[in-house]
Amino acid sequence: MSDVIEKTGVEPAGPDLSEAAHPAIAVKNLTKRYGKFTAVEDLVLDIPQGSIYGLVGPNGAGKTTTFAVAATLLRPTSGSVEVMGHDPARDARAVRRVMGYMPDGLGVYADLDVDEYLRFFAAAYKLPSSRWDQLIDDLLELVALHSKRTARVDSLSRGMKQRLSLARALVHDPEVLILDEPASGLDPRARSELRSLLLQLASMGKTIVISSHILAELEDVCTHIAIMQEGKVLAAGSTSDVTSQLAAGRRLRARFADGTTEDFEVADETGQAELLRRLALDSERQVIEFTRVGGGLEELFLSLTKGTDE
Ligand SMILES: Nc1ncnc2c1ncn2[C@@H]1O[C@H](COP(=O)(O)OP(=O)(O)OP(=O)(O)O)[C@@H](O)[C@H]1O
Ligand SMILES: [Mg+2]
Repeated sequence: MSDVIEKTGVEPAGPDLSEAAHPAIAVKNLTKRYGKFTAVEDLVLDIPQGSIYGLVGPNGAGKTTTFAVAATLLRPTSGSVEVMGHDPARDARAVRRVMGYMPDGLGVYADLDVDEYLRFFAAAYKLPSSRWDQLIDDLLELVALHSKRTARVDSLSRGMKQRLSLARALVHDPEVLILDEPASGLDPRARSELRSLLLQLASMGKTIVISSHILAELEDVCTHIAIMQEGKVLAAGSTSDVTSQLAAGRRLRARFADGTTEDFEVADETGQAELLRRLALDSERQVIEFTRVGGGLEELFLSLTKGTDE
């Protein structure tokens, strides 16, 4: 495919000449078409340095496509992306130096054990071999995979492969991390460990961009969230702003014992609680069921709230 730039290349580390003023990632009117199909359309995003930025959206929203452009793997149809001031389409080397990318799958590395796998990437990034042992020790500690150091990569469980993939993205100590659905396939305990790990990495000053189908999964760890659907951003900003925007204007339908129904509009969860209390206490009509109805953002909110990652 002509628009794939390179799948596996990694570049040597070097001095970081980026300035502090620009966003960690700026997506500037990015459009990506596959043939006639538009996967990402005129996307604008500013991902501030030091943020934990969640990109949430249903299957096919364009999350992976956006990440792949930022990660130097795919060329935009139009528009551009900047990662710490560098354009992946023009200076892939500089981008790879400052960015760690965890794709949504590990790929196949037959016949390598965990230690060899990480050494391979340490070598690819041209890190001094005298540092490899300590580095791999630290990384495996960080992702809790110490006991698997000599296990073959293809013998790891899915969640362990995810964690190894994260360790790999961290090999060259990048400033910006792009993690495509890192929580997918993790058990609840590993999810909670991932959350702590992300907070730890953020406290080290790294910018973390992370995708998920599930809003709730991002809500308590992300400083910022963008909601994507069909290649467009529907809402973006601080997590609290976006979640209250999404929850606003929800509609509830009450069904009564006499067979009638009535729809109510509420602004937020407080309004919803008040309505339910009022109806439950209504002595005239016996309410027997509440359901949420709606379209647009409301429907999206529901799908993201209820979504699973499988
Ligand atoms: N190589 C490709 N060729 C053609 N269409 C593609 C290609 N890659 C992605 N698409 C289409 O682009 C759209 C966006 O896909 P993308 O993988 O970016 O979505 P996503 O938000 O990551 O979805 P998911 O949550 O399922 O991972 C989808 O409709 C997909 O079918
Ligand atoms: Mg994806």
